[in-house]
Amino acid sequence: MTLIAPSILSADFAALGEAVRNMQRWEADYIHLDVMDGSFVSNITFGHTMIKALRKHTSLPFDAHLMVENPLKWVPTYKAAGVDIFTFHIEADRHAHRTIQQIKKCEMKAGIALNPSTPLTSIEYLLDDLDMVLIMSVNPGAPAQKFIPSAVEKIRKLNDMICERGLDVLIQVDGGINETTAKHCIDAGANILVAGNAVFSALDPKIMIRRLRCENC
Ligand code: DX5
Ligand code: ZN
Repeated sequence: MTLIAPSILSADFAALGEAVRNMQRWEADYIHLDVMDGSFVSNITFGHTMIKALRKHTSLPFDAHLMVENPLKWVPTYKAAGVDIFTFHIEADRHAHRTIQQIKKCEMKAGIALNPSTPLTSIEYLLDDLDMVLIMSVNPGAPAQKFIPSAVEKIRKLNDMICERGLDVLIQVDGGINETTAKHCIDAGANILVAGNAVFSALDPKIMIRRLRCENC
């Protein structure tokens, strides 16, 4: 079954506690937390302090997407804040294998995010150690952008890599996900879809989440 991780980036930042409570009520699978440091991406959103404050408002897993420089230094801090999945950008880390080791030592799931221009070969020697790969289908840093079609082929190739090695690595896709692009991503092998704008702009977010799962496709 496809999992849906709505991104709170599209929620009302003046009421994020209510947003995560709503997401649980809408039967989301994960809460996608877009952390931006204003350096790796030009935008700034929130950090571990906000995440710690949100932790008591939901029992859903916290899926943190760190669009930050030097992610290694943040691993213990985000564990303490209550994060379950720690995903960092391969482009922001010269020692990605060490960061994955630290994430696992802190008993979180380890994810690596690839920007649209970053090839799959960049994680060839890391795939066996990962729990999840995040394929960016937009350039990181902002919500409600247009889906980049080349992401579909990248998902398909990653799925082939995972199957050939007999690995149990989840494929997450992030950016521009709507009912149309969701189906293309699922057909190509995606397991988890991040959706901000599509969910928070929907008349009925609970129904939209069900539609994005494409249960009857
Ligand atoms: C972009 C973020 C995405 C984004 C979701 O840097 O990583 O999670 O907020 O995009 P939309 O709003 O298109 O679903
Ligand atoms: Zn994200």
